Amino acid sequence: MLPRDDNERVCRVGPGTPMGEVFRRYWLPVCVSTQIAAPDSDPLRVSLLGERLVVFRDSNGKVGVLDELCPHRGASLALGRVEECGIRCLYHGWKFAVDGTILDTPNNRDEAFKKRVKATSYPVREEGGLVWAYLGPAAKLPAFTRYAFMDVPDEHRTVLRVNVKANYLQLLEGGFDSSHVGILHSNVARPGWIDNAVTRSTDETNPANLSIDDNAPTLDPENTDFGFYYAAFRQAADAAGAINVRVVPFILPSTRIIPAPSQHFTVFETPADDESTSTFLVIHGKAPVDRARAIALLGLDDPRCWSEHDCAFKPTWADRFGQDRARMRDSWSGLNGVEQEDAVIALSMGPIFDRSKEHLVPADRAVVRVRQRLLEATRVVEKGGDPVGVGVDLSDVGAPDVNVAQDTNWRTLVPHHGIPITKGQTVRELLKLAS
Ligand code: FES
Ligand SMILES: [Fe+2]
Repeated sequence: MLPRDDNERVCRVGPGTPMGEVFRRYWLPVCVSTQIAAPDSDPLRVSLLGERLVVFRDSNGKVGVLDELCPHRGASLALGRVEECGIRCLYHGWKFAVDGTILDTPNNRDEAFKKRVKATSYPVREEGGLVWAYLGPAAKLPAFTRYAFMDVPDEHRTVLRVNVKANYLQLLEGGFDSSHVGILHSNVARPGWIDNAVTRSTDETNPANLSIDDNAPTLDPENTDFGFYYAAFRQAADAAGAINVRVVPFILPSTRIIPAPSQHFTVFETPADDESTSTFLVIHGKAPVDRARAIALLGLDDPRCWSEHDCAFKPTWADRFGQDRARMRDSWSGLNGVEQEDAVIALSMGPIFDRSKEHLVPADRAVVRVRQRLLEATRVVEKGGDPVGVGVDLSDVGAPDVNVAQDTNWRTLVPHHGIPITKGQTVRELLKLAS
């Protein structure tokens, strides 16, 4: 359980909150590039860390992220005209460049005024199919963080955004909870569950593709310079005596990389505000990614659930989140697909779950580590330091899911990122297996 004070500390992300100050020290995804696809396309209104922003692409293709409300008298720039290399407020026609410079003030002839005032703008990058912004102090602007998915051809990557009305930590914790994969996601993880058979999913794009029905895997988390790795061990189904090791990195402030046999899912749980989250899923691999298939696997192929148009995850208690109880003889959850199941569970907890009421078990070890790393970061930032992971190049960080011999030290399977190479035990020692 987490004391109420710590729960508040780790969940709230608005300006001036301890966790909000941590989030503001990293480059964060703001939107998918395709949401402002072409020069002078419609501006996009977004919330990030409790702040309202407008994102637009100017006539030259450059992207700007500004405070949403016009610095004149507060009309929303998201209603504005995007034209001639700027965004123009509808109310009195003030026009702003991507860096917030005022280009025109039709109701004010004082030329010097334009140099004195600026719209609040944020540093922006566009990489890997996403628009990124930095909302922190200018003096602390970190190097841009690179991920492996930024270095593949565009057709080998697809990016999805799902807006869920729940606190980011409820969604994030699901990513560090290996034991739920074979239970909540029974239908895609272990399709033999209905007959008590050990039947492995054959879908190589499926991130819930587990090697065996082992829902109480042994976990071994290890801190790194970006957060931590955790390894989950299960008896391997298809190699006598071998052990399956599935390693998932936690990257501060709220990112994880999930392995599927043929591709990786890099997932960002980016807080829009305290009670809603933009989940950005970047799927990439060595071959072209089939976007429609990914959407179906995630359970997002039903317009009552989600659409590309507004990215909103729509199910609510009003329709019991779309759960079909009549199907639950054959469907574990009565829901469809991995993301649909994860989002519904997070929503079912309410907007911000009170973790002082929970009862943790050893399978929650990595969830506890997530909270520890985040709370540590709030204390470091309060003391004027830099939180872990800021500016670290992550392009070599992946998520292996492999069968290994029992005398393997799993730490040799990953780029070490600060783990002493000699550290750790073999799989046999961790699992206390007989040699
Ligand atoms: S409120 Fe925007 S120009 Fe006046
Ligand atoms: Fe899940």
